[in-house]
Amino acid sequence: MSNVHLIDHPLVQHKLTLMRRKDASTNSFRRLLNELALLMTYEVTRDLPVQDIQIETPLEPMTAKVVDGKKLVFVSILRAGNGILEGMLNVVPGARVGHIGLYRDPKTLTAVEYYFKMPSDMHERDVIVVDPMLATGNSAIAAIDRLKETRPKSIKFVCLLTCPEGLAALQKSHPDVPIYTAAIDRQLNEHGYILPGLGDAGDRIFGTK
Ligand code: URA
Repeated sequence: MSNVHLIDHPLVQHKLTLMRRKDASTNSFRRLLNELALLMTYEVTRDLPVQDIQIETPLEPMTAKVVDGKKLVFVSILRAGNGILEGMLNVVPGARVGHIGLYRDPKTLTAVEYYFKMPSDMHERDVIVVDPMLATGNSAIAAIDRLKETRPKSIKFVCLLTCPEGLAALQKSHPDVPIYTAAIDRQLNEHGYILPGLGDAGDRIFGTK
């Protein structure tokens, strides 16, 4: 489990608990996800490289540090990944954004790609893939398989919730990809939902139930 980072800050846990409640409205679910994403970004970007620039304070010139947000790409796995994006962009507004669309083939249950749009020069960029739920792991694995074809400098995966089955699957296929999550729940059910979980993240974000 060495590449799994459990972000168990009290504020993260508190907001996640509010999101799990079945009576949370679409409005508050979305707002909490936004706030959680912002808090998680703080941990996920802890090792971002910084560079020195020259600035002037009101009192004197100085050399100060900045991050180069443009080298970072947040990749959202559609559609629920978009719910995390906004909070992350609040803290790293210069980041580029990629989207990948996958659906599950009902016969083979494998992930089929229907959309893939990334910034140019991926080989110069650090990628953070986002999807609120790491359940079976199939979408995350397929997304990362595809992203690796673009040869980015690094890849991290960020979710809100996962379970032992999803973690094992992603770690088996991509042992080099660190996984950041706010919780590891008990198990997957036979429909691929995480228990106790929070239900269908996409439906809860977009109010489509
Ligand atoms: N996707 C969801 O939205 N919820 C789950 O519990 C599993 C996958």
